[in-house]
Amino acid sequence: MSEKKFKRYTVTSALPYANGPLHIGHLAGCYIPSDIYVRYLRSMDRDVAYVCGSDEHGVAITIKAKNEGVSPQEIVDRYHELMKASFQEFGISFNHYSRTSAAIHHETAGQLFKDLYDKGEFVEQQTEQYFDEEAGQFLADRYIEGTCPKCGYEKAYGDQCEKCGSSLSPTELINPKSKLSGNSPILKETKHWFLDLGRYAGFLKKWILEDHKDDWKNNVLGQCRSWLEAGDGLQPRSMTRDMDWGIPVPLPEAAGKVLYVWFDAPIGYISSTKEWAREKGIDWEPYWKDKETKLVHFIGKDNIVFHCITFPAILKTHGDFIIPENVPANEFLNLEGDKISTSRNWAVWLHEYLADFPGKQDVLRYVLTANAPETKDNDFTWKDFQARNNSELVAIYGNFVNRAVVLTHKYFEGKIPHPGALSSYDLEVLQEMAEFPRRISQSLERFRFREALSFVMDLARLGNKYLAEMEPWKEIKKDEVRTGTILNVALQIAASLAVVSEPFLPFTAAKLREAMDLADAKWKDAGRQDLLPSGQALSDPGLLFEKVEDDAIDAQIEKLLNTKRKNEVEAAQAVPMKEIIVYDDFVKLDMRIVQVLEAEPVKKSKKLLKLTVETGLGRRTVLSGVAEHFSPEELIGKQVVMLLNLAPRKMVGIDSEGMILMAEDADGSLKLLQPHRHVKPGSVIS
Ligand code: 2FM
Ligand code: ZN
Repeated sequence: MSEKKFKRYTVTSALPYANGPLHIGHLAGCYIPSDIYVRYLRSMDRDVAYVCGSDEHGVAITIKAKNEGVSPQEIVDRYHELMKASFQEFGISFNHYSRTSAAIHHETAGQLFKDLYDKGEFVEQQTEQYFDEEAGQFLADRYIEGTCPKCGYEKAYGDQCEKCGSSLSPTELINPKSKLSGNSPILKETKHWFLDLGRYAGFLKKWILEDHKDDWKNNVLGQCRSWLEAGDGLQPRSMTRDMDWGIPVPLPEAAGKVLYVWFDAPIGYISSTKEWAREKGIDWEPYWKDKETKLVHFIGKDNIVFHCITFPAILKTHGDFIIPENVPANEFLNLEGDKISTSRNWAVWLHEYLADFPGKQDVLRYVLTANAPETKDNDFTWKDFQARNNSELVAIYGNFVNRAVVLTHKYFEGKIPHPGALSSYDLEVLQEMAEFPRRISQSLERFRFREALSFVMDLARLGNKYLAEMEPWKEIKKDEVRTGTILNVALQIAASLAVVSEPFLPFTAAKLREAMDLADAKWKDAGRQDLLPSGQALSDPGLLFEKVEDDAIDAQIEKLLNTKRKNEVEAAQAVPMKEIIVYDDFVKLDMRIVQVLEAEPVKKSKKLLKLTVETGLGRRTVLSGVAEHFSPEELIGKQVVMLLNLAPRKMVGIDSEGMILMAEDADGSLKLLQPHRHVKPGSVIS
């Protein structure tokens, strides 16, 4: 890893779209890790600009506005305020939180586009783009959905597949559909300005795959490698769109066109820094232009291509700017085994969490860090939340600090007792304590936040173990001076804990710092065995953590179950009913319960299984398109519903004599229809 020392840091967190409230996936993805990192840097007395803001352009906003029948401006005003408040409430300590509708951002992004245009970086092209004839509109990005050519996900957007992270062009989508009308779009000519990313491939390959091969996260390197080493190379990307919401393209011939949201959004980091610096009366430029500045982008995995390929290519080719030293992207957080989804309301919303668990911001910060999706997707469950709170925060951290404080009040009138002669065990424990800040730093500098947090908890464990072994509550009966020494050692550990846990648990650490009068303590002070001067008053920080009871967790689980039920009902209702038929039509269908005797894969077909079933009228062979949903073993012995009198049909050279009926679930998965008790094969369904 490079040991280069930097003069200052510019740390960014992805600008969230202002189209909905924030949820735990946002926090776990990039806001908590970046906040931990920045709080740590500040404690190390480093010069930091930590910037973010609302991403207010693009189709994510206009679709939301259209769905609600309000203007895009109304949407962004609403969510900008809500998101800003949630960040503040969770202690995400941005130096500045701006928004991309700000004049300074329009100016900055427009100027950057103009600079690149003047340098001849854009390829101007008349191209065919999808157009919705009914809506009379070109279909940029999320206005179009279809099947991802890379992974087969059926709801990939026109610019990106959220499932596999591929960056796409609308014309690459299989079976594209307009989100406005549901119709298949037509192609229509329009002019756009493209960045020919292939031109920067050499620089990108060297910068990422050589210079940073040892210090970037594997998940990030892996995604970059797959783009940079793809057979067809990096494709040109249009940096403009036919839309009326966004930053107008600053060229006379581009009326009615705006900058692509992924061109303008990352520039929002620069605009936010400018706004911050202006308010502070300092110069913004060193934070973006001085080579001694370390630029770090915290993002989620779906943003990797834009932060590792497009934006750095723009910054580099522009020439005035530094490029990131690291892009520590996290994978995704799921919720109770299912992908977090705003549209399906499958999320833990931050404003709702705060209403249900007031004052417990640190508990969520803790759980989301301890279980962060750092190297792979992870799952948030309410049971895990409860267990981590009760058996880690309460039982380890809270218990240790509480015992040290309570005993000091009980035996020493709330004053830090004087340390008498230290035993060899005391010295050993203090020595161990002194090693923690460096150990935690090392993990933080490498963006290993889970590991860093586990070390913080080990420090609390050390304190607990020390108290349990020294038993000051027994020692007081024998030797008051020795008891004072024990509590002094324990309180020094608690003081170090207050300092090193601050990036992770800022609210708790603030209470402890106040109680211990540690306002000025910095990272370098942690580990000191005289951090708390003896005789200094120790006030009561109050209960740091309290047990989360079963009923609170059950209520959250019930809330999610209700969401699931509601979604299922809505999804089921979403398929329109077919036209009415008469009874005579129905009785023509001969449906029976049959028993699956044999099941085997079909050569040359990924979808079909060949089933031999007992129909009550003899055995039959049926081909069923269920191979992607069931293994042959899962079907053998099952009773299922079959349409017996469907005319036989030859498929892949095999005669299929009927059809097995299945239920298609809301997510497209197939479920068997079975009688609730075993019946005689051939039982008629009527
Ligand atoms: O994925 C998103 O939510 C985007 N709004 C992130 C933008 S990050 C940056 F480029 F601003
Ligand atoms: Zn995909």
